[in-house]
Amino acid sequence: MRLGVRPVGAGAPRVPAMFVGIAEGDMLETLKLPVAHRRPVRAALAARDTVGRKNKITVVYAGSTRLLLAGLGPRKAVSAEVLREAAAVAARQAQGLKVRDLAVWLPALAPRFGTAAAVAAVADGLNQGGYAYNAYRTRTEDRATQLESVVFLSPRAELAEAKAAVGGLGVVLDAVNFARDLANRPGNDLVPRTLAEAAQAMARTHGLRCRVHGPKELERLGAGGLLGVSRGSAEEPRLVELDYTPRGRARGTLVFVGKGLTFDSGGISLKPADNMDRMKFDMCGAAAVVGALQAIAQLKPAVRVVGLVGATENLPGGKALKPGDVLTALSGTTIEIINTDAEGRLVLADALNYATRFKPDAVVDLATLTGACIIALGTFTAGLFASDEKVCERLLESSRRTGERMWRLPLWPQYEEMMKSDIADLKNATAVREAGACTAAAFLKRFTGYPWAHLDIAGVGHLDRERPDLARGGTGFGVKSLVDFATHWE
Ligand code: BES
Ligand code: MN
Ligand code: ZN
Repeated sequence: MRLGVRPVGAGAPRVPAMFVGIAEGDMLETLKLPVAHRRPVRAALAARDTVGRKNKITVVYAGSTRLLLAGLGPRKAVSAEVLREAAAVAARQAQGLKVRDLAVWLPALAPRFGTAAAVAAVADGLNQGGYAYNAYRTRTEDRATQLESVVFLSPRAELAEAKAAVGGLGVVLDAVNFARDLANRPGNDLVPRTLAEAAQAMARTHGLRCRVHGPKELERLGAGGLLGVSRGSAEEPRLVELDYTPRGRARGTLVFVGKGLTFDSGGISLKPADNMDRMKFDMCGAAAVVGALQAIAQLKPAVRVVGLVGATENLPGGKALKPGDVLTALSGTTIEIINTDAEGRLVLADALNYATRFKPDAVVDLATLTGACIIALGTFTAGLFASDEKVCERLLESSRRTGERMWRLPLWPQYEEMMKSDIADLKNATAVREAGACTAAAFLKRFTGYPWAHLDIAGVGHLDRERPDLARGGTGFGVKSLVDFATHWE
């Protein structure tokens, strides 16, 4: 999606379609529309119908321009989030109309939201709602039309502000869609090897260093967690290391770690058949990390950022890990396997320990780790666990700015107690279901010796059911917040 800014001219803009935000009770004057567009809008307003209603799009025709009157609901409740959602709904409407190029009428939005906030919310909403994964649609008529360009029509006085706001946005939204494309790839296409290749190709394009460790090197390192999980699969595991180093002095080093299970069947502790197909999304953490590094490579913040991805499948092959087995992780810690479906923490144990070598100022991991987190917070909020107040606060600030919801959950020592094994240092699962997200996080904490935060994105990584603000499939959750976190780090 190309983003641009153009000044509002004297006449009506000649565009195929234009987004106009409108709240309930708005008058024609509030919208500051060009003269040629006023008549059809006046008629729509007079008819009342659903114009202005939250998430209702009224399409009216002004000459060759379709005006998408996007309802923002009651005036008092209007917010950036409401605008973002309305833009997402409008994007889907535009898709239905096969619109590729959309203009956004800022004069109707700027007084209400401020230019920069309006630009950010609309661009993000259009991107979130208008995305579609077409790679496996063989018939063109089945492919959803996607927005190719969005141009913000801005009053001259606010042109500079609009341009500045558009600045890095395109890069971030492209990175979000890159992460979504990775997440949506089927499990037979995206295996650990091809996930690593995708990261490598991205690194080559954007000038990042990339190292990929295969089974031999993982053996040499002693990455028993990642290797243990991969034993049941014919596909080799990979540990991917992406490295962005700024030119000047760095304000520190950040490491982002992603769980990259390209498919999680549960292993010998096999999952039930229902919805198992969704376990191709068990690499959404990895997708977010690779996506974030793509944007960071282009935005070039003054901080070193390393991305680590532990990639494997979890399958019940003849050599598979069994309940009762004991593994020795990269850190030397021994882990008794109680349930082979608690595999993400075994992979992360090694990746988190590997992160130590970068002497990080902060490490953030993202993982579709527990069903318990979905039960606790639902499908629009990630669970946040942090051992460090600064990292936690910074992440929550990023969360507020990006709209990617996060909610802090506790890391009490009692949860660590629950992860102690009868025969080894730790066990990978408890016998009880209570506090599943918290015990998993407490397990991870044992492998961190630096300021650290963990995001359980099991609920938010992908979307099964259609939602007004978001297209189905991989969501790219975390990309925006990681990029924001890195660019604001000091
Ligand atoms: N990948 C799953 C978690 C998950 C479940 C993500 C549903 C998205 C949707 C993870 O590997 C897993 O299986 N976790 C187990 C842990 C349990 C065995 C301790 C779970 O949550 O049931
Ligand atoms: Mn699992
Ligand atoms: Zn998993």
